[in-house]
Amino acid sequence: MDRAVAEALDRGDTLASFRERFPIDDAGPIYMDGNSLGRTSYAVRAALDAGVHEWQERMVSGWSDWIELPAQVGDRLGLLIGAGPGQVLVCDSTTINLYKLADAALSARPGRMVIVGDANDFPTDRYVLAGLAAARGCELRLIGSDPITGLDLDELAGAIDEQTALVSLSHVNYRSAARLDLEAVTDLVHRHGALMLWDLSHSAGAVPVALDGAEADLAVGCSYKYLNAGPGAPGYLYVRKALAEDLRQPICGWFGHQDQFEMGPAYQPAVGVGRFLTGSPPILGLLAVSAGVELVLEAGLGNLWAKSQALTVMLADLIEERLAPLGASLASPREPARRGGHVAIAHPQAWSWCSALLERQLVVADFRTPDAIRLGPAALYTRFVDGYDAVERMEAVLTSGLTADPGDRPRVT
Ligand SMILES: Cc1ncc(COP(=O)(O)O)c(C=O)c1O
Repeated sequence: MDRAVAEALDRGDTLASFRERFPIDDAGPIYMDGNSLGRTSYAVRAALDAGVHEWQERMVSGWSDWIELPAQVGDRLGLLIGAGPGQVLVCDSTTINLYKLADAALSARPGRMVIVGDANDFPTDRYVLAGLAAARGCELRLIGSDPITGLDLDELAGAIDEQTALVSLSHVNYRSAARLDLEAVTDLVHRHGALMLWDLSHSAGAVPVALDGAEADLAVGCSYKYLNAGPGAPGYLYVRKALAEDLRQPICGWFGHQDQFEMGPAYQPAVGVGRFLTGSPPILGLLAVSAGVELVLEAGLGNLWAKSQALTVMLADLIEERLAPLGASLASPREPARRGGHVAIAHPQAWSWCSALLERQLVVADFRTPDAIRLGPAALYTRFVDGYDAVERMEAVLTSGLTADPGDRPRVT
C-alpha cells in the first residue's frame, strides 16, 4: 500500500474537520496514544476556563448547580454506552468505582463465594478483585486468556457455576484490544444467577456499547482516553435501574445519602444510582468530561467507529506488509469485529523500539510488558496519513537497528 491510498481515505473522511477542534502541531511527533490519554480539545480547555471563572464569580453558591453534574453528565455519557437516563454517574476514578460496584455485587449474592475474571485484564481490575476476594474469603478464578485473541467463551462458561457471585471483565482488552461479545457474555453470566460488571475504559467514545440492550448489570470506565477529558479526569459508573435498590455500596459518604443536608445521625442510601456517589465530586473534572462527551456526540459514535475500524484495518495491513518482515507481528485480533479502537504490535525489543520512537520525536506510542507497542489512532483527530507515516517511521527505526533494551524503564511507559 502506498501513501496515496491513505491520502485518498483522508479526502473521503467526513470527520476530517474534527481535527481542527484540537491544537495540533503537524511538525511534531505523530500522536498514536489516544487510547491512553486523549488529546486536549479547544472545547475542554474552554470548559475548564469557564469553570474556573464560574468558581471565581459564584464561589460556594455554585454548588446548587454543580451538585447535579455527576448525574447530568452521566446521562449524556450514557448515550455513548447505550444507557438510558438515571443509571450513569460521573464520579471518582475507575478503580474506586470498580471497587464500589464489585463489593456491592458480592453483598447482593450472599452465600456465593466465587469471583470470575480474566488473568490478562488490566492490573487495577485484577488487583481490586483480588483484594475483595481476600477480604471476604472468596475464591478469585482468573481465566488464562489468549494474549492476542482474548478470552475464550467456552473457557469462560466452564469457569462460571452456581457458586459464582460476580464476573468482572473488560469489554476491550487494554493490551491487545480483543473485544468481547458484551451481550453474549452478560447472558451467560445471568444464566448462572451471577452479576456482570464491565470495564468500558477502552470502549466509551470509541466502540458502540449497548448496556441497556444487553440487560447489563454494572459497568465502569474512564474519561481520559477516547473522551479526551484530561489526565486523571473522573471515571463513571453504570447501575441498571432495576438493580440499584438491591445494592449497597461500601463507601457510605454524605453525597450518597438520601437527604445529604439533613446532616442526620445515620447513613440512609439515596434512591437509585445516586447512592453510588461518595464525597464532593471534582467539578472542574466534570466540566471537562461534559465537553469531551459533547464533542464525541457531535461527531457521532457510529461515524467514529466506522473511521476507527478503517484506521485499524489499514494499520494491521501496514504492520503485516512493512513491519512483519522485520520481526514484528500484529498482536491484536485481525478482524475488526473482534477488536476495539487500537492495535498492538509485538517485537522482542519492543521497549527499545518504543523509546527510540519517543526520543527521536517520531511517534508517541506506548509500551506494554512484555513485548508490545500499542497504537491508538483516535478517530476524532487522527488522519489516515498519520497512521501511514507512523508505520513508515517505525519501519525506519527498525531498519536502522535498535540498541539493546536499556532495561531501566522510566516509571511511566
Ligand atoms: C481497562 C482499564 N481499567 C482501568 C484503568 C485505570 O483506572 P484509573 O482511572 O482508576 O486509573 C485503565 C487505565 O488505562 C484501563 O485501561
